[in-house]
Formats: sequence, C-alpha cells, structure tokens
Amino acid sequence: MIKETRIILKNIGKINPESIDDYISAGGYKGLEKALGLKPVEVIDELLEAGLRGRGGAGFSTGMKQKFTSESCLKCPQRYVVVNADEGEPGTFKDRVIMEQDPHLYLEGTIIAAWAIQATKGYIYIRAEYYESIRKTQKAIEAAYKKGFLGTNILGSGFDFDIEIKLGAGSYLCGEELTMLESLEGKRGNPRIKPPFPAEKGVFGMPTLVNNVETLANAPLIIANGKEWYRSLGTERSPGTKIFTISGQVNKPGYFEVHMGVTLRQLIELAGGMKNGKPFKAGLLGGAAGTFVGASMLDERMTYDNLKEKGATLGSGAVIIMAEGDSVYDILHNCLRFFRHESCGKCVPCRVGTTQLVSEADKLRNGHPDKKSLLVRMVKQSEIMAATSLCPLGQSPVLPLESAGRYFEQELITI
Ligand SMILES: Cc1cc2nc3c(=O)[nH]c(=O)nc-3n(C[C@H](O)[C@H](O)[C@H](O)COP(=O)(O)O)c2cc1C
Ligand code: SF4
Repeated sequence: MIKETRIILKNIGKINPESIDDYISAGGYKGLEKALGLKPVEVIDELLEAGLRGRGGAGFSTGMKQKFTSESCLKCPQRYVVVNADEGEPGTFKDRVIMEQDPHLYLEGTIIAAWAIQATKGYIYIRAEYYESIRKTQKAIEAAYKKGFLGTNILGSGFDFDIEIKLGAGSYLCGEELTMLESLEGKRGNPRIKPPFPAEKGVFGMPTLVNNVETLANAPLIIANGKEWYRSLGTERSPGTKIFTISGQVNKPGYFEVHMGVTLRQLIELAGGMKNGKPFKAGLLGGAAGTFVGASMLDERMTYDNLKEKGATLGSGAVIIMAEGDSVYDILHNCLRFFRHESCGKCVPCRVGTTQLVSEADKLRNGHPDKKSLLVRMVKQSEIMAATSLCPLGQSPVLPLESAGRYFEQELITI
C-alpha cells in the first residue's frame, strides 16, 4: 500500500500556520537565508537542475522560466513576481491547503523567486472566495515584514522586496496568466495574445515571473536540501512530489501528497478505495480542462510526460473518480456548460463554439437520429476551436470531449 510523501505538507497539523516562530522552529526561512548567500543565477541553476516543473497545470520548467524572466529587458526599471493563487480549476483545492495551513512556505518561495530574478515587487493574486487563505497570507506577510524577511535590505543582504495581495476578479479565465495580469492592472479579465509571454512583457509591461502557489512552495525545500535530494523523489523527467486532490466515488476524498509517478490505482487506494466497493468506471484528470480516462489507464504512471504520451493530462492534480453506474455524459455536459459560462466572448470560435457544443450535447441526449456522426462532428468542431481560439480556454473543450469519446463512445451515443 502506497504512503504519502509529505515534503510540502510536512508542517501541516504540526505547526500553527499563524505563527512565524513555529514556522522558523520547523526550519522555515532557512532556504531564503541560503538563497541570499548565493548569486541569483546560482539559485536559478539549482531550481533548473532540480527539474522543478510548474504545478499550475502546464508543467513548464520553473528554472527555465526564471532564466527567461531574469534575462529579458535588462533596461526595464522593474521586474515582478506574481503568485497565481486563483485556483479556479474544478476539482482542485491544493493551493488552498498550502495557503491556509502553511502560508509562510509559499511566501518564502516567492521571496526566493524574487531574489532569483531580481524583482523588487510582487503580487499574490488570490481567489476572492478564499477568505481564510487571504487572511492567513496577509498575517504571514505582516509577520515576515516584522522579522526582516520582506521590505528593505532583507536579512542584511541589500535586497529589497515588497509584496501585496490582490483579490481575484471571480472568473475562471482570470487564472490564465495573461488574463490575470490584465486583471491585476485593474482591467476587465480579457486575455492577451501570446507572445509576448509574461517573461518578456508582463504586468505593467515589465518582465514578470508568474508561478503557481504549489510551484513556489517547492523552492525553499530545494534550496535548503539541494537538487540531488529533490531528484531522489519522483521520476527522472518529473522529479519531486505532487499534491493530488481526489473527489468523487472514493471513501476518503481529500488532498494527498505523493511522489510523482504513482498510478491512478494507487491514488484511489490512498483515498480509501472505491466508495462502497463499487467498480471503477472513469477518472477525470486535471479538472474541466482535463481528460477522461478508463480502466485501462489505472496502472499508468501519473507524470506529465507519460500521461501526455497516452493522450491524458496531469494538469493541476485534480482527480475526479466515477464508478460503474455514474454517467460520463453528465460530467462531460457539466464541463461543456462550464466552458460556455466562462468564455469571455472576445473571439468567435470560442464564444459560438462553446454554446454550440452544449446544444449538440443536449441533442445527444434528446434523440438525435445519428448520434455517432454528431459526436464525430462535436470532436471535429472542438479541434477547430483549439486551432482558432485566441486563448487556452477555447482550446480546452477538446480535451474532455475527445477523451470521453475515445473511452466511452458507446455510452455517449446510446444515452
Ligand atoms: C483558463 C485557465 C485557467 C487557469 N487557472 C489557473 C489557476 O487557477 N491557478 C494556476 O496556478 N494556474 C492556472 N492556469 C495556468 C496559468 O496560466 C499558468 O500556466 C500558471 O500560473 C504558471 O505557473 P506554474 O509555471 O508555476 O505552473 C490557468 C490556465 C488557463 C488556460
Ligand atoms: S478563447 Fe474564449 S475565453 Fe479566450 S479570448 Fe476567445 S472567447 Fe475569450
């Protein structure tokens, strides 16, 4: 039976998250002290060689992103770090656990990232409904200022860094990094065209590093314990651990930190097994912008690359489990309605496409004469949306739709 490997969640239940002294007694801010003794480029190299990959969904190399940001626009007067704490992907609640139960960990990681790219200003963009995350992060920031971990001349290093919280504007799309930067600037949450990427032209037109809460929570641990230690966890191409949030038909839904590379079967075991012993039917991996998998995927390793090779996604680590008797059609329909609701309407393929997909999904249920052809058309349409939509939201419906069709075609065309 697999056990959790808690490195990010190691303090949970052991320290008072509202006490900076507790955090320091548990070894907190040692990573920052060490980082400030290194050159910024050495910090970037350590994270790069540790193989840390972004935990917000895309799995991009964190060290590489820091390198791009630190090397871009050397004449720019300002560089920013923005923490993506919007956590809007359905089924995902891992960042909330970190923010509510060990807020200094990701705050420390943010200050390390700022040193690495030489940013002097940071923002934490937190989902506005996360009241406790906001309160505890604010308290952590104030305590860190008092102890000299934030502000001017941090720990006597000569480095200055200020940070403030900005509340999320309430839309799923505002979690997408460029849309988030628009929202941070006080504008409507509409996406920007990529490139330029935030590393080149981010908030207020300046080079900006955008990282997820869980990603940044890894940084103090890597700096304090070294890249070899980090690489001893997980797999060659996906080192470290991942916090999965498991919901649906399991006995003990919740959050679980495990080394990268566990299988879906092991995750279900960790979550207490299938509810009432019912047989497994399907998993939705990575939330609404994720993929359905069937029983043939139960023993595949859950890493960014392996899942991608098999046409699935790891995403944010959301895992929604369905049992025999549950309707994949209903969950798919929910995902499609979610995209229709969250589309900002700026571009035609997504604005019209998300609406059409819902009405076609309705027709699948309401006795269309040729459901098989209708499903093929829906998948084709979502592929065209992926190719022509302006931002990743319009590129997402193809993921649950195509995968549901691949594993559960019979159910979808006989509903
Ligand atoms: C529609 C949409 C919503 C997103 N929501 C979030 C979110 O809530 N939190 C997050 O960290 N990343 C989210 N992302 C991913 C971010 O755009 C970005 O990739 C991430 O913040 C990068 O951080 P990382 O490199 O540390 O993963 C979203 C992406 C899309 C397309
Ligand atoms: S793809 Fe959708 S969410 Fe993105 S810009 Fe177009 S309409 Fe807006």
